[in-house]
Amino acid sequence: MTYKIGYAWSVLFRLFHWAFALSIITLVVTGLYINNPWTNTVLEGSRSFPMATMRYIHFLAGFVFTAAVAVRLYLWLFGNRQEKFWDSAPITPRNIKNLFSTLAYYTYLTDRHDERLGHNALAGTAYLITIVLAAIQFISGFYLLYPESLFWQKWGVTLFKTQQQARFIHHILMWYFIIFAFFHLYIVIWNDIKSPEGLISSIFNGRKFHRSSS
Ligand code: HEM
Ligand code: HEM
Repeated sequence: MTYKIGYAWSVLFRLFHWAFALSIITLVVTGLYINNPWTNTVLEGSRSFPMATMRYIHFLAGFVFTAAVAVRLYLWLFGNRQEKFWDSAPITPRNIKNLFSTLAYYTYLTDRHDERLGHNALAGTAYLITIVLAAIQFISGFYLLYPESLFWQKWGVTLFKTQQQARFIHHILMWYFIIFAFFHLYIVIWNDIKSPEGLISSIFNGRKFHRSSS
C-alpha cells in the first residue's frame, strides 16, 4: 500500500486550534477558582490578591478564546476546502452518509473507514456544536464582564435575561468543554492508533497521509 501526503490544515487553522485549546484549559482552571477559591482567604488583600489575579488571567484568556472563535467563523467561510463549513457539517448527502458510516466505524460495527482529508462528518458535527456553544460562552462572559455596556446588555438580556442566569449558563457550559476535551482526546488518540493517517501530527504540521491507488 502506498500513501500520499495531503495538505489538510492551514497555519491559521492550527493557530486557532491551539489558541482555543490552551485558552480553554486556562479558563477552566481560573473559572473553577472564581467559583470556589481554593486558596486560604487570609491571602486576600494582604501581600497578594489571588482572586484579582485569577480574574485577570480569566479575562485575558477570555479575549484569546473569543479571538479564536472569530478566526474559526472566518475559516468556515474563507478557509481552505477542508476548513469550510460545508465540508464536514451534516448538511449534504455526502456528509450525512459519512456521519452514519463513521458512527458504525466508531462502534466497531464495521472495519471500513471512509477516509477523508478533512474532518469526518461526526467530528464536523461535534465541532459545529462546540463553536456555537463557544459563542454562547463568550457572550455570557462579556455580559458578566461589562454589565453596563448597552451592546452586551442587548445580547445578554435577550439570551439569558438576568446576570445570575448568565452566570449559571456560563458555569454549565464549562462542563460541556471539559467533557468535550476528554472525548476529543480519546477519539483523536483512538483514530491515530486505528488508521495510519497521522491525525495527531496533522494538527501540528497540517499534513495527513491518505491511501493512493498508484
Ligand atoms: C494535546 C491535546 C490535543 C490534541 C493532540 C488535539 C488534536 C486535534 C486534532 C488531530 C484535530 C483534528 C481532528 C479531526 O480531523 O477531526 C483537532 C480538532 C479540534 N480540536 Fe483538538 N486536540 C487537542 C486538544 C484540544 C482541546 C483541549 C480542545 C478544546 C477543548 C480542542 C478542540 C478542538 C476543536 C474544536 C477541533 C475542531 C477544529 C475545527 O474544525 O473547528 N482540542 N484536535
Ligand atoms: C470555555 C470558556 C470559559 C470557561 C470554561 C469559563 C468558566 C467560568 C467559570 C467557572 C466562572 C465562575 C462562575 C461561577 O461558577 O460562579 C466564570 C466567571 C466569569 N467568566 Fe468565564 N469562562 C469561559 C469564558 C469566558 C469568556 C470568553 C469571558 C469573557 C471575557 C469570561 C468572563 C467571565 C466573567 C466576567 C466571570 C465572572 C467573574 C466574577 O464574577 O468575578 N469567561 N467563568
